Amino acid sequence: MAVRYELLKQCKQSGARLGRLHTPHGVIETPIFMPVGTLATVKTMSPEELKEMDAQIILSNTYHLFIRPGHEIVKEAGGLHKFMNWDRPILTDSGGFQVFSLGDLRKITEEGVQFRSHLSGEKLFLSPEKAMEIQNALGADIIMAFDECPPYPAEYEYVKNSTERTYRWLKRCKEAHGRPEDQALFGIVQGGEYRELREESARQLVDLDLPGYAVGGLSVGEPHEMMFEILGYTTPLLPKDKPRYLMGVGSPEALIQGAILGIDMFDCVLPTRIARNGTTMTSEGRLVVRNAKFTRDFGPLDPNCDCYTCRNYSRAYLRHLIKADETFGLRLTTYHNLYFLLNLMHQVRQAIMEDRLLDFRDEFMMKYYGTLN
Ligand code: GUN
Ligand code: ZN
Repeated sequence: MAVRYELLKQCKQSGARLGRLHTPHGVIETPIFMPVGTLATVKTMSPEELKEMDAQIILSNTYHLFIRPGHEIVKEAGGLHKFMNWDRPILTDSGGFQVFSLGDLRKITEEGVQFRSHLSGEKLFLSPEKAMEIQNALGADIIMAFDECPPYPAEYEYVKNSTERTYRWLKRCKEAHGRPEDQALFGIVQGGEYRELREESARQLVDLDLPGYAVGGLSVGEPHEMMFEILGYTTPLLPKDKPRYLMGVGSPEALIQGAILGIDMFDCVLPTRIARNGTTMTSEGRLVVRNAKFTRDFGPLDPNCDCYTCRNYSRAYLRHLIKADETFGLRLTTYHNLYFLLNLMHQVRQAIMEDRLLDFRDEFMMKYYGTLN
């Protein structure tokens, strides 16, 4: 198998898992946050900067690279790692989630999904086989099954059909996967808000004995408590000796609570996206650095952060750059936000090691949100 998960210990206070994921491009310490590099770049960051902040693995997207520049080009370049000069692990999402968020531009059949390019309007088709062909060409260490992420809310019957189809698609993905020896195919648990569908989906996936399991279809508009409830009964159904990945989730609260519920991997565009409109995550909560009140604030963005941005620049300077649409401002806030979440996960791992993740959560929540929930 392409990846191997090693469970090092479980937090006695919370049950959270501390582990290592061995991949063809190195070892990842889990629980981990994966910065998102949709178009073969984590927007505004160089690979050197990502390494400096200790990003251990990044995520990229099948859908976007298929449309532009095309997976054949990336393959010709020697694969995604070489193309983008990133020699650490990469995970690619399958395109399932992205085509489903196109709304009217797509049509689902048993065969796959027909959609129009959001760029050219050209008619394109993605199927389990095509998603595997593209991801095999890109060459990420971890690749995702082609699934449907149903909207929230959705009727039981709709979600049932969709979840069953996602399972049939998974079996086709497994069949079509051309590089199982050096690319780990993760299945995705779906089932919406319906417990029996989630349980059925998890059991079916586990029967396929995959190298890793993701929980999808969450953080799509459902209340936070519902997401935690679903995770609470889903993760115990997944094998202990395989990694679990919660897709598209990246608020500080969800990272900590997800780890407590047994999740090992997370990704989200949140830190990078909000950074580019001048919103930052600090030890004392969100801070919108473009606000007028920071015009003459010559102190660091986060006095408790030792990242490059906080060591060298003031809130007043960041505000000025963002207001003036200077790209350097976007780089500085992006750097800080990613550093903040990577550092948060480092603290989570430390707390698991010391059997005090629930205490850590409470302290963090009070400082960041000003409340325990
Ligand atoms: N990203 C966030 N949620 C999902 C999901 O349910 N499926 C896929 N493929 N990607 C996601
Ligand atoms: Zn910082």
